[in-house]
Amino acid sequence: MKINEIRLNNFRNYSLLKMRFTKRINVLIGDNAQGKTNLLEAISFLSTVRSFRIKDETDLIKKNCDIARIEGMIESDAGEKRLTVMISQTGKSLLIHKNPVRRTSEFIGQCNAVLFTPADMDFFEAPPKVRRRMMDVELSKLSPVYMENLNQYARVLKERNTYLKQEHPDFEYLEVLSDRLVALQVPIIESRREFLGFITERISALFCEFMEEKFEIDIEYESESENHTDLAQQLRLKMTASLKRDIAFKMTHIGIHRDDAKFKLNGFDVSSFASQGQKRMLILALKMAILEFIVSKIDTYPILLLDDVFSELDSKKKIKFAQLLPKDVQIMITTTEINEIKGWPASETDVFFVKNGVIAPYKEDYR
Ligand SMILES: Nc1ncnc2c1ncn2[C@@H]1O[C@H](COP(=O)(O)OP(=O)(O)O)[C@@H](O)[C@H]1O
Ligand SMILES: [Mg+2]
Repeated sequence: MKINEIRLNNFRNYSLLKMRFTKRINVLIGDNAQGKTNLLEAISFLSTVRSFRIKDETDLIKKNCDIARIEGMIESDAGEKRLTVMISQTGKSLLIHKNPVRRTSEFIGQCNAVLFTPADMDFFEAPPKVRRRMMDVELSKLSPVYMENLNQYARVLKERNTYLKQEHPDFEYLEVLSDRLVALQVPIIESRREFLGFITERISALFCEFMEEKFEIDIEYESESENHTDLAQQLRLKMTASLKRDIAFKMTHIGIHRDDAKFKLNGFDVSSFASQGQKRMLILALKMAILEFIVSKIDTYPILLLDDVFSELDSKKKIKFAQLLPKDVQIMITTTEINEIKGWPASETDVFFVKNGVIAPYKEDYR
């Protein structure tokens, strides 16, 4: 999958941008606060229909403007599709070609991009929510059904938690809601386990290649359910056992909204055991493994968005990292230092200069 062209209209610090990308490596160079990350944010928004930086989407609208617009030409085996997102003060609308799309789940995944951002460096220390979101974002891009289940689960969970706040909640009605939660979460747990299983298989090899040393990496899906057949039955029993506690604390204790992915390095918790350097390489290995998972599902590489990745790597690792990037992937990479891309395959690389919301081909000879 490739993005051939992007057009931005009043998005962040871009008034009007139209730019074409090479199918291989696109380097965005510029000083701080010029719009490099904003451009990746726009591409990422086409992929996930959310910003990786902010919750309030009206922040994406250029100051003193009414509507932000992102339009991308996405090429896949199915041909070229024009995806459009429009964000206004009152919400957003989505279009594929000129047709409005009502369900976000239909739009997500039309452009599949995998993002690395310096904020990912907190991944292992962050609360479980962050690791759940990683799984949910990747799986939602691959399956509208997964996303629909997730949304419905969130709705029923909210309903159950609201109902728990009543004076005398009815046990039977709570059990009805519990059953619905169980039914919705079973396929989600199965998908998350399959995803982590695949990642576990690949991540050790990738990490060892980066580090040039032997390591074992394990990822465990942490959940109330154990990995055996009757998932629904297990969860139902746990929910029934937790009913009194749920009522006492007025919240739902059992379910996928509490699950986590635990990363282990040579048997120890990554968050407490691994060095900063190891964590950095591990997060990059994770992104690479996600790339491979996506290829295994849709038979094409997603677009790889790398924001400021060089500032996280020492010079030896930079070279190693460049060598390990898959060859068929379209890459967007931001940097402040042109020297960082010395040695990258020049014939496959287009360099752009980003300044104050304007992007132009980079003219100087940098090689
Ligand atoms: N809604 C907005 N309207 C106008 N400018 C914005 C908006 N949001 C962010 N900016 C500007 O975008 C710039 C930051 O862009 P960013 O892409 O994060 O920089 P960098 O090139 O360092 O990655 C800042 O100058 C900021 O003021
Ligand atoms: Mg930036």
